[in-house]
Amino acid sequence: MSDEMIRERLLANQDALSLLVDTEPQLAFLPRVFERFSESEWYLVGGAVRDLLIGGREINDYDFVVRNLELDELVAYLSEIGYVDLVGRDFGVIKFRPHGAERPEEVDIAWPRTERAGMSGGYRDVAVQADMQLPIEKDLDRRDFTINAIAWDVRRRRLIDPHHGISDIETRTIRAVGEAKERFQEDLTRILRAVRLAAQLGYGIEDRTWEAVKRLAPQINTEKPGSRRNDRDEIEPTTEYVVPREAVAREFIKALRADAVRAVDLLEISGLLFWVIPELGAMGNCPQPESTHAEGNVWDHAKLSVAALFSENFRDFFGEEEPVIETVVAALLHDVGKPSARRLDKGEVHWDGHSELGAQLTRSIARRLKLSSVPGGFNVDRLVWLVQHHTLPNIFKPAEMKRGLLERFFLKDPVSGRALLHLAYADVMGRKKAGGQPVPDNLRATMAAIEDVRLNLAKSGAGGSLLSGQEVMQIGDLQAGPEVGQVLADLREAQLAGEITDQQQAQEFVKKYLG
Ligand code: CTP
Repeated sequence: MSDEMIRERLLANQDALSLLVDTEPQLAFLPRVFERFSESEWYLVGGAVRDLLIGGREINDYDFVVRNLELDELVAYLSEIGYVDLVGRDFGVIKFRPHGAERPEEVDIAWPRTERAGMSGGYRDVAVQADMQLPIEKDLDRRDFTINAIAWDVRRRRLIDPHHGISDIETRTIRAVGEAKERFQEDLTRILRAVRLAAQLGYGIEDRTWEAVKRLAPQINTEKPGSRRNDRDEIEPTTEYVVPREAVAREFIKALRADAVRAVDLLEISGLLFWVIPELGAMGNCPQPESTHAEGNVWDHAKLSVAALFSENFRDFFGEEEPVIETVVAALLHDVGKPSARRLDKGEVHWDGHSELGAQLTRSIARRLKLSSVPGGFNVDRLVWLVQHHTLPNIFKPAEMKRGLLERFFLKDPVSGRALLHLAYADVMGRKKAGGQPVPDNLRATMAAIEDVRLNLAKSGAGGSLLSGQEVMQIGDLQAGPEVGQVLADLREAQLAGEITDQQQAQEFVKKYLG
């Protein structure tokens, strides 16, 4: 797209800004507030302005900065027309949801602030002075990136862009406001935000900003004194991360969801990935045999596996299906157990137990990062399960296998089942083979067998059990015990093979079986 076209689009999106404030139901309270407080100034700031200027992006959160209006006065008024959350009041921030609002999100309303120190990952270490007289430009100066430091003056309908964020949108650039190092030191979460925004928007990171990301990456693990209540209900001193791991996890996962390949690339080159998950660093020092892994060490394989999930070949293989986020993380971590499992025997490398070890390591990484806290949800049990069983679809011998096992692994929880197939695909295709391309033949056979089981189940109605344990005991005159379990398992196996499709056949099966 030419510069001229980009400019035109930007201008059109300025109209979108006006239109939004006029038509968004969540913001319908504004005209009344303007009327009531005629001297007040209202600025839409942050991600909403950025995303409206970029265009085509969904806006969920609205952040306003308000000037020339006392917080208490506004709170008193807003309380009449909606719900006001005062938790951030001491920092000069309130949240508001009008009565009858259709959307659950609250609108953030803040008073201009200039504080620059001690804000990390969502909470602040110093008292913040909000000041309704501060010029909006001062408030924009303290923000992280130029593209996030643009304000839309709602009443005068104009953009305020002292740090040339619009020009950075045009050139698709993430650039810190002012001195990058200072912005990051004020709030180390911003190091991760830079990478996340680059992945999310597909933007480049400006040189000085990128240098600062790389230089300050180790500080993501900075600790500070904290306290906690112990088992004896006493408060004892402890240390905690300056950037809470929840914030790290949130940014990591957001970046991976947006563009996993680019995110991994940026996180790797900046070093952030290895500071946060040192276990991945060990993978880079773990060589693999050329015969099965010509691509290189375990980490090289992990990266190619992530890329395989987003390849054209994946789409050819799986059609419309997309990998869930747990599969993406599992592709990164699936061989994390290999460095400790590696064993040489008569010159041959063995990895026995690496899946089990990997699952344990994955569980501890997920715990440390508090992955389950990620907004939008993250299923840690699924992730660990995927790592634990990642080799199965590629080594199963479908012809020799119990169909019940296929059902248990792939059909009981269909999301996890598909995820395991996706991961197995990534594992095969994320490697290079001396003398040819890898082929997922075994996986194909496993998938055909699963499909067969699925269709057979469909033949017997909803696919549930045809007889209960109680019924089996009656038919066979059996006491409760392991034998009943065995009959049920074999009956199920016959049902999954398509040999039995209704209750009558099931009864005959049991009679014959025991007779
Ligand atoms: N901000 C900042 N430093 C941070 C976090 C936020 O300067 N560590 C500022 C930015 O101006 C940002 C705004 O606060 O645009 C709102 O922050 P937030 O809602 O967290 O992010 P958004 O930029 O709105 O975008 P997203 O929802 O994609 O995170």
